[in-house]
Amino acid sequence: MTTAKKQGVFRLSLIGCGAHALDYLCPPLSKLPEVEFVACCDVDEGRTAQAMRSFDFQRPYLDYNTMLAKEDLHGVVIAMPHSRLAGAAVAALRAGRNVFIEKPMAASPAEAREMRDAAKKSGASLMVGYCERFAEGRRIMKRLISEGAIGDIVNVNAAKGSPPLLTGWQSDPAMGGGPIRWVGSHVTDQVLWMVGSEPERVTADIAWRPKGGVEQDVSYTIRFKNGVLASFLCSQQVGAVDFVEVFGTKGRVRAEWPPEYSTIPGDTVTVQSAVVPAYANPTTIVPGAPHPSNMYAAELKEWLASLKERRPPAVTIEDGNAVVTILDAVYRSARSGSPVTL
Ligand SMILES: NC(=O)c1ccc[n+]([C@@H]2O[C@H](COP(=O)([O-])OP(=O)(O)OC[C@H]3O[C@@H](n4cnc5c(N)ncnc54)[C@H](O)[C@@H]3O)[C@@H](O)[C@H]2O)c1
Repeated sequence: MTTAKKQGVFRLSLIGCGAHALDYLCPPLSKLPEVEFVACCDVDEGRTAQAMRSFDFQRPYLDYNTMLAKEDLHGVVIAMPHSRLAGAAVAALRAGRNVFIEKPMAASPAEAREMRDAAKKSGASLMVGYCERFAEGRRIMKRLISEGAIGDIVNVNAAKGSPPLLTGWQSDPAMGGGPIRWVGSHVTDQVLWMVGSEPERVTADIAWRPKGGVEQDVSYTIRFKNGVLASFLCSQQVGAVDFVEVFGTKGRVRAEWPPEYSTIPGDTVTVQSAVVPAYANPTTIVPGAPHPSNMYAAELKEWLASLKERRPPAVTIEDGNAVVTILDAVYRSARSGSPVTL
């Protein structure tokens, strides 16, 4: 079903009307006057009905191929179980639709490559929803590093906890479940973004859940080509831990969510610097950030701005691909007991 395009309006559809899409992605999009919600799609009719009730979608679909064939769209927002993300993205990209896709974008490097090839062929763009890059504390941290406040990066330490993934697809390995993809993807992306060098080697170990096939706790390290070492923890047992700490030749900087991150605004940044006199002693910066859900509004605005300005988005398909490659290496290293050279 094609309707006349209105000038300056983004005709968007949603694939996957689950919790994240309806609670965090659709609300900020629905507030933007330049967004027109065209259609929503989910295999579960109850979820499309919920999306139609909550937002101004014009039509529901149960099959995204039918939706992509019938609707004239600028872009598609995809938020589905991890093993299903790539299939929908490839279909949308092949149909020439720009994509905003939830992390980790794909469940395997082969899927990620297929997405990249589809995007190259059609010329459509794809942004990955690594929302924490848009959290104010992480942006302050990135700026301090870029301005040289800590000198050259030497070492990174990062951790993120996930809620216990006890049920449903989030704890099903066949659906791409498990904390490595659920939360490890976020911290891996941030560290790649901060370090800015190519990863060379991954070494990992996994404590598997006593019951059920996904991992409970995971430790891994990345050695970068510039010699930087980064170590990571992602775990189902440590609560809402979320920090990235970067050590440099002239100081260190750490951004951290408060434990009550869903109710208390923003994350804090602690910096100590031998070159910025104001930070000679460890100093904590509390960003004047509004609610953390603002990072979702910021990432979606960036996606739409990249479409309007016909430029690559802030988090590209290559960025997503790099994370998927690392996560795959984490599993391979843990299973083989040996480092994986990339
Ligand atoms: N960035 C963040 O902070 C954040 C937070 C939570 C979740 N997420 C991401 O969002 C995505 C979805 O997670 P969620 O918590 O919303 O999961 P969810 O289970 O609540 O929702 C997934 C939806 O996809 C639908 N679905 C499954 N197969 C489908 C298909 N073939 N076609 C159409 N719909 C289909 C399901 O019926 C369900 O409604 C994941 O990639 C997850 O990692 C991101």
